Amino acid sequence: MKQTILLIEDDHRLRRILQLVLQSAGHEVLTAADGQEGITIWKRREPDAVLTDLKMEPVDGLAVLAFGKQHAPQVPIIMLTAFGSVQTAVLAMKDGAFDYLTKPVDNDELLLILANAMTARQPSAENVRELIGASAGMHKVQHNIRIFAASNSSVLISGESGTGKELAARAIHEASIHSEGPFVRVNCAAIPAELIESELFGHIRGAFTGASSNREGAFNKADGGTIFLDEIGDLPLALQPKLLHAVDEKTITPVGSSTAKAIKVKILSASNRNLAEMITEKTFRQDLYYRLNRVHLHLPPVREREGDIALLLDYFLQLFCKKLQRTETTFTRESITILNKYPWPGNVREIKNVIERAILSCDGEKQITPAHLPSSISTGQLATENQKVQTSTDLFKQEQNLITTVLQDCEWNQSKAAKALGITRNTLRYRIKKYGIHKNET
Ligand SMILES: Nc1ncnc2c1ncn2[C@@H]1O[C@H](COP(=O)(O)OP(=O)(O)OP(=O)(O)O)[C@@H](O)[C@H]1O
Ligand SMILES: [Mg+2]
Repeated sequence: MKQTILLIEDDHRLRRILQLVLQSAGHEVLTAADGQEGITIWKRREPDAVLTDLKMEPVDGLAVLAFGKQHAPQVPIIMLTAFGSVQTAVLAMKDGAFDYLTKPVDNDELLLILANAMTARQPSAENVRELIGASAGMHKVQHNIRIFAASNSSVLISGESGTGKELAARAIHEASIHSEGPFVRVNCAAIPAELIESELFGHIRGAFTGASSNREGAFNKADGGTIFLDEIGDLPLALQPKLLHAVDEKTITPVGSSTAKAIKVKILSASNRNLAEMITEKTFRQDLYYRLNRVHLHLPPVREREGDIALLLDYFLQLFCKKLQRTETTFTRESITILNKYPWPGNVREIKNVIERAILSCDGEKQITPAHLPSSISTGQLATENQKVQTSTDLFKQEQNLITTVLQDCEWNQSKAAKALGITRNTLRYRIKKYGIHKNET
């Protein structure tokens, strides 16, 4: 989606670099060397987002912010700041800036924040809704899903068990231009080795004993859509050359047939096994690996997703209360503490299962106490593991507290809170997600 970005930065080298980064991401860029010039341009043009340095002479970024809030409050403003003046950037957030970036600017982070600003602005835009998470790691995943969906490259998805690889594959398909086409998943680990070839490419009648009729393979079924080769690490070595051929030539040949058929599919694959290691062990072909791994999507384990545990707990709590038709259930403070500290080796799937069981076992009591949790979790043997999370940056906490306090003051009325903070409701929602803020039992 092409956007017009107004870039205001007095350091001409940085301005040039950022301009190039934004242009190569497909945006139109308007540049200005100080706040005054920026405001003048803003009056003439209608940028979709504004990226402004904070400290500039004679007119600084706060003046740009003030102008924007007055004249175009719906346009997200992102502050650029030197490390030393982060405090000012935080104040700017109070005044309604969408977010801030510290210098030196990380290009990926810049594009990510912009993408988020756009989605926050257009709540109905194709954002990857089902993939819950507001941590930096999950923002990156969501951002990459959108980018990878738009290209034809094969995507290899990695991540520990339960991190959401399959969900991510479906999200890529749904965000792609082939979303109307089929999504076909093949679980390479679940099919007997001797049947995989036929499963993937189909067979013709009489191809082997028992092949009493023609059979359509998964690639054929996925034509015009997406094929998802799940647990690709379990694909027998003997079959890998044939898959390589299909990927390279974009054709398939059913077992027993000599005619190749052209197909158009987007190829996604996933594995929780270490494929690089398998290549050294010669159990996975390097050439196939590179074909499947044109781009790589990594799903971080839950223990590395700061703030997401709380979001996921809340999400599954509501989901299962609804699904199991239980009245509104909440966690006791003690349970929350325990659940937030637990390192979740089984990742999102484990969270999901634990919450479902807890709701079932606390039948009618309305509160999930530690007694409703598996003993391995409630005894907290693994609790020290996640102590790091407690020392999250002061800044993060500071912003989180600010928003939480205002929300509490406004009795969780988001419209009121947004008004009090001087930001739009969409920006507020973005921040609630980003900081993992949720209404607790107070
Ligand atoms: N970010 C998320 N938000 C909401 N639900 C999620 C998220 N990630 C995973 N889930 C849910 O958790 C479960 C496990 O996810 P999924 O099957 O995609 O994991 P996986 O990485 O493929 O695991 P495995 O390697 O074991 O196959 C699913 O029920 C999925 O819907
Ligand atoms: Mg899976």
